[in-house]
Amino acid sequence: MREVLQSECVTGDPSPERSAPDKAARVDADKEAAFGFDELFFSRTNASGIIASGNSVFQRVSGYDWNELIGKPHNIIRHPDMPRGVFWTLWNYLKRGEPIGAYVKNRAKDGRYYWVYAIVTPVDGGYLSVRLKPSALLPTVETEYEALLALERQQDLRARDAAEILLERLNRLGFESYDAFMAATLRKEMAARDAQLRTAADPVDARFDDLTAAASSMIERVDDIYAMYRGNALVPLNLKIRAAQLGQAGAPLAAISSNYNVISLEIKDSLDRFYASAKEVLRTIDKGTFQIGVARLQREVADFFRKEASGAQGRAQEEMGLLERQQAAYRDLAVKGLQGIADRVERFADDCAGMKHLASGLEVTRVMGKMESARLSRADDGLDGLMDDLQTFQATIADGLKEVDGFNHRIGDSARHIGRMVGSTGSLGSLGPLRADA
Ligand SMILES: Cc1cc2nc3c(=O)[nH]c(=O)nc-3n(C[C@H](O)[C@H](O)[C@H](O)COP(=O)(O)O)c2cc1C
Repeated sequence: MREVLQSECVTGDPSPERSAPDKAARVDADKEAAFGFDELFFSRTNASGIIASGNSVFQRVSGYDWNELIGKPHNIIRHPDMPRGVFWTLWNYLKRGEPIGAYVKNRAKDGRYYWVYAIVTPVDGGYLSVRLKPSALLPTVETEYEALLALERQQDLRARDAAEILLERLNRLGFESYDAFMAATLRKEMAARDAQLRTAADPVDARFDDLTAAASSMIERVDDIYAMYRGNALVPLNLKIRAAQLGQAGAPLAAISSNYNVISLEIKDSLDRFYASAKEVLRTIDKGTFQIGVARLQREVADFFRKEASGAQGRAQEEMGLLERQQAAYRDLAVKGLQGIADRVERFADDCAGMKHLASGLEVTRVMGKMESARLSRADDGLDGLMDDLQTFQATIADGLKEVDGFNHRIGDSARHIGRMVGSTGSLGSLGPLRADA
């Protein structure tokens, strides 16, 4: 049997001591411990992060012997350039029982560095980390980590506070949350790796690109409607002032103004709900996208390890079984994630209908106002201007809603299309059969 895997039952807490790299470390610190885009590796730990097993690529790239790895805390390969905020985020997800994707710079035994994109998921009795070689966003991440580490050192930040700052920095890069960051980066890194390996792109990818683009455009349009609403916040007040100035003749206008005020407040409430609902669509898409990526990567790791361990018995077989079970579990989660998107889109369509209803109420008020302003036009020329503002407001809301509705349909179509790909072929792109027995 080839030496492809080592594992051992280990219990206990991680030892606090950090491994001291060899003297060579100082010499080789700026050199990379190379591995290929075609190589995938994994390691498994117990619940405290003590290494229990891994594959041969993991062992080779780290430069340690198996007996130096098994039973040791995973920080044995921690690189001093890594900000602690990243590890706080990693453990925070894991302790909640959630998977996480993260860029990690590691240090091999001889001091050389290597970057990985790691997907860490909870497994029975601990955690499993599968890793690929990142490239797409690596320069950005290196800059971010460098800046974060500098802040951590200057301000002696606690890990939790550093994690907050990491999130703020990701927000500034356009990622709404860490979930959004890991969904986008996993997909980008897998696509970049496909390109490096000249693997044909998965058709599901294009659909997910469309889903994400439509959801982002939809949020932008909802933002526009919000901005328009805020820009018109004074219209009812101005109408009321005009009505008061007109005295008795302004009574119908005062009624129209208060009617408009009521609808406008309802629109504000509805917009808040609508906005939250649109964001929920985006969050569900991020989650679904990430789960699909995780399932795909785990499948590849399982295939990789199957070849690596062919002919091996005993522990390697057990490990293979674990990888396969993990892959099947995440494949099912990915399918559920897709269903979640379709359900969410339907609920959002209801919210959209509610908004449209309010917008038509606004239109009635506007027409009444227009008639009243025609009647009063000789008495008050300024009214026409106010009514024009109201018309622009109403038209923008109606147009915006139409567009939002269109994007929502597109999202629904894409989710259903992916669902049909699942239904007709019994597979989800490169994820393979949906059930182990299929
Ligand atoms: C499954 C799994 C894999 C991990 N892989 C790495 C890794 O490749 N490199 C690393 O530095 N930390 C890794 N960690 C995190 C370490 O356990 C540890 O939190 C980190 O090295 C920071 O160590 P420190 O708290 O002693 O600074 C992993 C944790 C788990 C659960």
